[in-house]
Amino acid sequence: MSGDSVHIPILSEEILELLGVSAGKTIVDGTFGGGGHSARFLEAVGEAGKVIGIDRDPEAVARGEQKFGSRLTLVCESYIELPLILQQLEIPSVDGILLDLGLSSDQLADHNRGFSYLATGPLDLRFNPEEGRPASWYLQHMDERKLADLIYQFGEERFSRVIARKICERRRTAPIKTAEELSELVQRCVPRSRGHAIHPATRTFQALRIAVNDEMGTLQKALEHLPDCLKPGGRIAIMSFHSLEDRLVKHAFRNDPRLDVITKKPIQPGEEEVHRNSRSRSAKLRVAERTH
Ligand SMILES: C[S@@+](CC[C@H](N)C(=O)[O-])C[C@H]1O[C@@H](n2cnc3c(N)ncnc32)[C@H](O)[C@@H]1O
Repeated sequence: MSGDSVHIPILSEEILELLGVSAGKTIVDGTFGGGGHSARFLEAVGEAGKVIGIDRDPEAVARGEQKFGSRLTLVCESYIELPLILQQLEIPSVDGILLDLGLSSDQLADHNRGFSYLATGPLDLRFNPEEGRPASWYLQHMDERKLADLIYQFGEERFSRVIARKICERRRTAPIKTAEELSELVQRCVPRSRGHAIHPATRTFQALRIAVNDEMGTLQKALEHLPDCLKPGGRIAIMSFHSLEDRLVKHAFRNDPRLDVITKKPIQPGEEEVHRNSRSRSAKLRVAERTH
């Protein structure tokens, strides 16, 4: 694990403003990652305020502890455990919650985790490598139809059936153990499109990561329970990176009687930010306020 994070926080100014982060407030960073947003929260809440950082990834938490020390309360857990975490900290409710979904650049850069299709290490894809099973296990044991459905549903991959078939053919002779092996197999199934298209394996990797970490189920539960952790007038901000998540957030905010939607349309990074940080290009931020 390297000491410093390489992750660049996205839409920081907009998040500070829309969450109304100011002196004395209590803010939860539910997806701490490299701590970029937490650092800004700490500055803004000052000595009188409090920032609680949560991440499922033990490496992200260890790195954060080294960097921030006791200025920040850091917890290695899933953000769905927020009600319990607040109970243990004896904090009845908070002023703001941020969820910046998906994976961090630190995870992508770590070739032992398998998040990048260029990684030569094991195909793991778990945010917390101590929980659940690695992606390579799913590829070896999942039924072909379920695998195809998963790649189609979570990756919106048109070639999901042929990819699943090739995975099942291949595993009869040799299991797929590394990200590089999966990436090569997918490239042989998906025609490369012209122009600035994404890498052919991107959608399959996204689908597997979402399934391995139960990302949609976790977000769904968070949307049900996290608004109860807010004070009246407190706000929740959720930044998503693909249409499935954004749709879930949009509908949940709109249909929740506890919440008023603050962002009628999602906030997206401007040209300058996308130029500076290409990973920000698909970010969509939605914010809602607890009414009572
Ligand atoms: C996009 S990064 C966050 C980056 C962070 N905002 C920053 O500026 O450095 C997403 C982080 O969320 C974490 N994560 C994903 N699902 C989670 C969950 N259910 N609970 C807590 N953390 C989660 C990942 O491990 C990853 O570190």
